[in-house]
Amino acid sequence: MTTATIITRRAFRRTDDYTPGTPKLKYVEEALPPLGLTSVLIKIHAISLNYRDANIANGGNPWPVLPNGILCNDAAGEVVATGEKVKNLAVGDKVAPIIDTKYITGRELGRSWLAADEDGVMADHVIFDEEVVVKLPDYLDFVSAATIPCAGVTAWSALKGMSIGQTVLIQGTGGVSVFALKLARAAGLQVILTSSSDHKLEKMKEKYPNPPLLTVNYSKIPDWHEEVLRLTDGVGVDIVVENGGTPSLVQSMKCTRRGGIISQVGYLGKQNPQDLAELVPIIIDRRIILRGINAGSKYDTEDFCAALSATKVRLDDLIDSTFPFQKAEEAVEYIWQGKQVGKLVLCL
Ligand SMILES: NC(=O)c1ccc[n+]([C@@H]2O[C@H](COP(=O)([O-])OP(=O)(O)OC[C@H]3O[C@@H](n4cnc5c(N)ncnc54)[C@H](OP(=O)(O)O)[C@@H]3O)[C@@H](O)[C@H]2O)c1
Repeated sequence: MTTATIITRRAFRRTDDYTPGTPKLKYVEEALPPLGLTSVLIKIHAISLNYRDANIANGGNPWPVLPNGILCNDAAGEVVATGEKVKNLAVGDKVAPIIDTKYITGRELGRSWLAADEDGVMADHVIFDEEVVVKLPDYLDFVSAATIPCAGVTAWSALKGMSIGQTVLIQGTGGVSVFALKLARAAGLQVILTSSSDHKLEKMKEKYPNPPLLTVNYSKIPDWHEEVLRLTDGVGVDIVVENGGTPSLVQSMKCTRRGGIISQVGYLGKQNPQDLAELVPIIIDRRIILRGINAGSKYDTEDFCAALSATKVRLDDLIDSTFPFQKAEEAVEYIWQGKQVGKLVLCL
């Protein structure tokens, strides 16, 4: 066992004041819980923000959250102390907690999400049982590695089963989407990327010039599925990374090939069940496989880290911007306003 000399931590807790324009976070210095026999103390070096964090901070999360909890579920840090009975981790390991601490193998029935059912990782130190902590790839710096547990694993799960030469439709230029774009390129898939902004699409085309990125502005072209069909010679894409939810799902189905897959990842549009009137006839006619994505288990996270380590895919180009830890409030607002192309990471 290594003795932890650190007994307090700095963190941001939610104010739970959802009035627009009021601070969503409160800076606190608080006592760290004791280090359990099988727990590790992690010094956090980088925290990556997701849409979910901004949504929780603004009271929009559809699942229950702990009052005044600590925000965020994507982070990377190093083990600085271990409990007496820790077997698989050691001081110095580059690690992250998994985002649902009850989802290890993928067969568990319960759920305990960081920043919702329990405190998250927007803190300089966190303590977790070693069972819910994964080792991150050594070749990545902390900023890049912090995007893995939630955004990365979600993109990985959303693209599962795809093979070289297939076409994927990726919606929006947020964190999960640019991660999916990166993985799709690494796996030899053709990408059609959508955005509400020509400026963002141009930025992505410049960043990923070879082979040229196919793009569609879903704001300017209300019938964007027709454009996707045109780009695929009328056939449709093999898979969609669906981010809109009810306002876009039927359109996504209309531009997915017969027997194709839709990975339902997000719910960024205004959700209205009436949008889904055509869903059943289309899903049957086009033999669509609609699968829900809810990030992944500890095993998925480890598989993903192993794949990254083997291929050494760089992730630094996914980073839109880095903010100092003390600018957490501004960072949450930046995400809430959708200013990012890719990931925003807080650095400590
Ligand atoms: N299911 C899971 O496991 C899982 C895990 C992580 C996240 N999520 C969900 O996935 C979604 C994306 O998360 P994120 O963290 O990547 O978000 P983000 O970084 O905040 O990205 C949001 C981006 O999506 C685009 N967008 C906004 N409204 C849209 C719409 N109606 N249809 C299509 N695209 C739209 C916008 O890009 P443009 O400005 O380019 O249009 C926006 O900037 C969220 O709903 C989040 O809750 C799900």
